[in-house]
Amino acid sequence: MDLHVRPSSGAEFLAHTRLHHAIWGARLSLGQYLAREEILQATEFSRAGRRAWSLVSGEEGGGEALLASCESFEGPCLWTLGDGRVEEGLSHAIASVFVPDALRGKGLASSLMSGVQERLRALGAVASTLYSDVGAGLYERAGWRSHLGTVASLPVAPAIAGAVTPTPAEPLFDADLAAIETELCARRHDALGRATTPAFAELPTAARLRWHHARATFLCATLGHPAPRYLGARAGQSHCTWMHDPKSDALRTLTWQVEGPGEAVTLLDECRTEAARSGLERVVLWDLDPLSAQATGLEPTPRTDSLPMLHPFTPGLQGAQWLGANRFGWV
Ligand SMILES: CC(C)(COP(=O)(O)OP(=O)(O)OC[C@H]1O[C@@H](n2cnc3c(N)ncnc32)[C@H](O)[C@@H]1OP(=O)(O)O)[C@@H](O)C(=O)NCCC(=O)NCCS
Repeated sequence: MDLHVRPSSGAEFLAHTRLHHAIWGARLSLGQYLAREEILQATEFSRAGRRAWSLVSGEEGGGEALLASCESFEGPCLWTLGDGRVEEGLSHAIASVFVPDALRGKGLASSLMSGVQERLRALGAVASTLYSDVGAGLYERAGWRSHLGTVASLPVAPAIAGAVTPTPAEPLFDADLAAIETELCARRHDALGRATTPAFAELPTAARLRWHHARATFLCATLGHPAPRYLGARAGQSHCTWMHDPKSDALRTLTWQVEGPGEAVTLLDECRTEAARSGLERVVLWDLDPLSAQATGLEPTPRTDSLPMLHPFTPGLQGAQWLGANRFGWV
């Protein structure tokens, strides 16, 4: 069978999106699911860097059959070989890897991923990331490698047993996201500049954070939750951003930059307050740093779903550390 990967047509991807609904559309009608995808595709982040890919068999114009599909989202990244020099480039996050029921188990997703990584290489990408819900094997065959991702979750109700004095916090709004982007990018730049081995980091741009907020705003309105008022909190030199995820009754942190134990306790408390205000049951934090874990008493455990996977394309980056990964990079 002649298989190849090419950009999807709009109609083609829509046909698969209608089928995705059964997998990723929990608590949404088909109409609501399609509306959400349309809203996400209209965001600045998607318009700037979303691509849809199809694995097809046969000749173009001569009865091609659509077999599998996925999306990729381009965003800025930094990388270093560990020699003190930090380079900028583009990385592509993979999402919505899909093969229709009747075609599964024949290696089609593996062929799709292998073709997509060639396409992304040809675009000059530094690397590609993804978060697997189906283990590592499928993606490893096409060159992605798994990294440790952790999760810590706490219910909204009980108080935090922090032994340190909390710092007053201020809420973050959409207008603050540009400053947050600048600070987080500078932090990553510094961290990569200090790295003595190859390292890679995606940049949490305001556009990328807004993509998550567009999703949250739609889900809150559709599922009858209060609209998010605040997009995060700042305490002294520390800050976090979050998204409301009413589908899983959770407030999820997107970025988390903490400079001291008291600030970690304050930010976590802000997350819990925001979750409670919005009728969400718990706060979920990915990739919590050791300082924050110690200050808050949280015990992050390795994630079994949303397994972080990285495929570096740039020579010398194989085996690179992945710095600053967090939920903002999930698509
Ligand atoms: C996951 C999916 C894309 C695989 O498509 P496929 O064409 O059957 O995949 P391949 O034949 O190339 O490879 C199958 C591999 O995926 C694994 N796999 C498929 N579904 C899985 C699941 N739900 N959990 C764990 N592994 C799964 C198989 O065990 C097999 O692994 P192995 O070859 O190491 O034994 C397809 O089942 C699908 O569309 N599922 C629904 C959407 C989804 O979950 N997408 C992935 C999001 S990360």
